[in-house]
Amino acid sequence: MSAPTFEVLVARRFSRRTLIGGLASFLGASRFAQASSPPLPFAEVSRALTKRLILPDGYDAHVVAAWGTPLVATGGAPLPADAADQALRVGYNCDFLAFFTDDPHASERTVAGLLCVNHEAVDDRLMFPGVTDAGLSREQRRLQMAAVGHSVLDVAFSTQGTWQVRPSSPRNRRLSALGPACLVSGPAAGHPRLATRADRRARKITGTLANCAGGTTPWGTVLTAEENIEKYFRGDPATLGRDAETAASFGLSMTPVFEWWKADPRFDLTNEPAEFNRFGWIVEIDPRDPRVPPVKHSALGRFKHECATTVVAPSGQVVVFSADDQKFQHLYRWVSREAYDPARHRGVAARTLLTDGVLSVAHLTESGALQWRALVAGQGPLTATAGFRDQGDVVIDARRAAALVGATPLDRPEDVVVHPDGRIFVMLTSNDERKEAAPGSPRATNPYGHVLVITSAMGPRGPDPAADAATWDVLLYGDDPRLDDAARSAAGRRGVPAASADGVVVCPDNGTLDPSGRLWITSDGAEYRTGVADGIWMLDLSGPEGAAVTRRFASVPTGAEATGPCFTPDGRTLFVSIQHPGAGSTWENPSTRFPDEDPALPPRPAVVAIRRSDGGVIGG
Ligand code: FEO
Ligand code: CA
Ligand code: CA
Repeated sequence: MSAPTFEVLVARRFSRRTLIGGLASFLGASRFAQASSPPLPFAEVSRALTKRLILPDGYDAHVVAAWGTPLVATGGAPLPADAADQALRVGYNCDFLAFFTDDPHASERTVAGLLCVNHEAVDDRLMFPGVTDAGLSREQRRLQMAAVGHSVLDVAFSTQGTWQVRPSSPRNRRLSALGPACLVSGPAAGHPRLATRADRRARKITGTLANCAGGTTPWGTVLTAEENIEKYFRGDPATLGRDAETAASFGLSMTPVFEWWKADPRFDLTNEPAEFNRFGWIVEIDPRDPRVPPVKHSALGRFKHECATTVVAPSGQVVVFSADDQKFQHLYRWVSREAYDPARHRGVAARTLLTDGVLSVAHLTESGALQWRALVAGQGPLTATAGFRDQGDVVIDARRAAALVGATPLDRPEDVVVHPDGRIFVMLTSNDERKEAAPGSPRATNPYGHVLVITSAMGPRGPDPAADAATWDVLLYGDDPRLDDAARSAAGRRGVPAASADGVVVCPDNGTLDPSGRLWITSDGAEYRTGVADGIWMLDLSGPEGAAVTRRFASVPTGAEATGPCFTPDGRTLFVSIQHPGAGSTWENPSTRFPDEDPALPPRPAVVAIRRSDGGVIGG
C-alpha cells in the first residue's frame, strides 16, 4: 500500500462526507474562495508571531488568574517567595479549565462560579532570576512542587466588566505535588507495585503533578489528567524489573528535565522505585468540597493521560475517553459497569462509578472501522505469563497491554471532544517520526497533525459511545500555512478546509464546544513547526453534511500555546489558558513579557477571559 493511495482513499470518503467544502476549494481555482463559505462571524486574525495575544476587532481579553495570583489575600509581591507562599497562590503553566456556574440562569447571563485550572509544568529559567547550570536551590524546587497540580478559584464577573478571583474566598484551593493526599481506587489500590516506604498499603498518594487536560463529570467533579510524569522523576528503567518496559516507554531517565530528586528523595527512583507507578492516573477532585480527598481512579489506566472526556451512554453507563499523548501511543475508552443515577450518585457516592468498569483501546482499520478492544487480565494475550497476573497489572502497564491487543498507534492523540450529536472528535497534534500512512493516520508524514471524527455504532436511541463498534474518518488536516496552493497540492496534500491561509490549523491540541455546538481548537506546535503563532480556531460544523471550515480566532504570544478553552454557559466568555509564554527564553531576557508588560516581571502563564467588547455572544 503506498501512502498517497491511502490518502486518496480517505479523500474519497471525505468527498462524500465531512470535507465537502475543503475538497471543493482544493479542486477549484482558489482554495480559499469565499463564495462557498458562510459569512465570517469575526474577522480572522493574522497568524504572524508577536509578543502579544491577538484577537479579532471587537474582542478583548483580561487576566483572571496568572502565576502568583493570591488566593487568600490581596496585595504583597506579585510572585511567590517560597513553597509555603506558592501554596496560597495560583500555580504555574495553566492548562485545562472547567467552569462550574453558581447561577440559576447561567445560559442567559453567567456571573459567578468556580473556575478549575490545571497546572501542568514548571520552568526553571523563567520562574527564577539568575539561574545557572548549577540549577535551582532546594527551596526553589519545593516552590515548583507547589506550583503544579490544580487550582479551584471562586470567580465572579465584576461591575467593571471583568472576571476576578474573589480573594480570601473559602472556596479557593490549591492542590499540588506536595498534597493533599489522594486516595487510590480500582484495581491498583493496594497493589504491591504501588507500595512505598511512606505508603506500604498503596492507598494514599501525596499530591498530583503534570496535570494537562481533563474533563468534568455529570455529578459536578473535575477529572485531572497526569501526563508527562517522567520529567519529574530520576530513574534508570533497566533497574525497575517488571516496571522497566513501561518506564522506558515514558522516557524515564537518570537526567530528568526537573531535578526535584535533589530536594525530595521520593522523586529519586533509586531510592523509592515504586513512586513512579503512583503517577500517570486520572484524578477526581470535588471542587465544591475541600473535605473530600482527591481520588486516583486506577481503573481508567495509567499512561500519559491528556484528557478525560466524559459522557453518559444511552444505557446510563459512564463513558470516559482519554488519549495517551506520545508519538505512536493510543486512544482509550473506559465504560462503567454501573449506570449513572442522578438521584443516587451524588457527591462522594458518585465516585464509586469510576472504580469498576472496562478499559478499552482503539483498533482502527484502513476501511474506516474502529473497534474498542477490552484490556482485561486473563483475556486474550493479557496472561500471567505476559506479566498480567491481575487487573492491577493491566492498568499499571496499560500501554503494554494495549499494544498486545492490537491498539492502533496514533500521532500524539490529545484532547477528545464529544458533540451532542454523538460525533467524537480526537485531536492529534503531530508525529514527526511517522514514515508511512496507516489507519487513523492517512498521511505518510504528519508534522502538522489532524483531527479524527469517530461515529459510534447506533443503538436503539442513537449513537452509543458504549458500543464496541464505531467508524473513523478525518475531519481536517493541519498544514503549513506558509505553503501556497501549488506547493501543497504538489506535495499531495488536500483537505484543509480553511477560510484563508490564517485559518489553516497547525498541530491541533485541545478542543471545546461553544453553547451553539461549534468546535473551537487550540494548537501546540505551530510556532515550533512553521514559525506562525499558535492560536485558537473556530469550526462551524453546521455546513453541508457537517462540513468544517476553520477560522483563526486568536494568535498567542511567542513561546505560548493556548490550552483549556472553556465557555461560560451564556457563551459570552471564553476562558483560555495562555501556557508557557516566552518558553525557551529566560527571566533576564524574555521573548515576551505577557501579560504584565512590566520590566520587573517575567512572562507569566495566565488564564484570560476573552469577551466581545459589546458583551455579546462569542463568535456571533
Ligand atoms: Fe500536556 Fe499533551 O499536552
Ligand atoms: Ca495539551
Ligand atoms: Ca500540548
